[in-house]
Amino acid sequence: MRETDIRIGILTVSDRASRGEYEDVSGPAIIKWLRERLTSEWKAEYSVIPDERSRIEDELIRMADDEKCCLVITSGGTGPALRDVTPDATEAVCGKMLPGFGERMRMVSFQYVPTAVLSRQAAGIRRETLIINLPGNPKAISECLEAIFPAVPDCIDLIGGARLECDESLIRIFRHN
Ligand code: MTE
Repeated sequence: MRETDIRIGILTVSDRASRGEYEDVSGPAIIKWLRERLTSEWKAEYSVIPDERSRIEDELIRMADDEKCCLVITSGGTGPALRDVTPDATEAVCGKMLPGFGERMRMVSFQYVPTAVLSRQAAGIRRETLIINLPGNPKAISECLEAIFPAVPDCIDLIGGARLECDESLIRIFRHN
């Protein structure tokens, strides 16, 4: 795979942002965080959709199967409210779940907010795509990504996805080889 073929999906799940009631801050914050740290050339596949389970599932499948994203990062819809269904949609499209990602993110978020226990954020594998849920709060983006990203390139290697290289002065990556 050529480096320029690397695609990463960024999916903001928010009723209000999708209606244009406010501008999405989380999606662009994820893109900026990745742009600063990834040295591999990559393209963002970005969309903003409402908290509707079938829409989320369709968009995750499109990003994974059609756009061939090796990684999809969602933000929002991980809480306990009726319309928070992002982890449920993620689980429905994944063949295998990786509970360690959610455990690690809740552990780190709990240092900042006691309500981190309310987050059901999950992660899983759909064929050659790793899907990771982040909470919607823009402040949570870097807190969560700093905690889990060291394991992300290795995970993508192990499922046969693109090889992601990072600026090691900004983030220390751990991989098998
Ligand atoms: N994690 C961090 N790091 N920072 C936060 O502000 N908010 C919590 C939790 N995790 C939060 C966090 C709250 S209040 C909720 S309800 C859940 O994430 C779900 O957030 P979401 O509905 O935006 O996904």
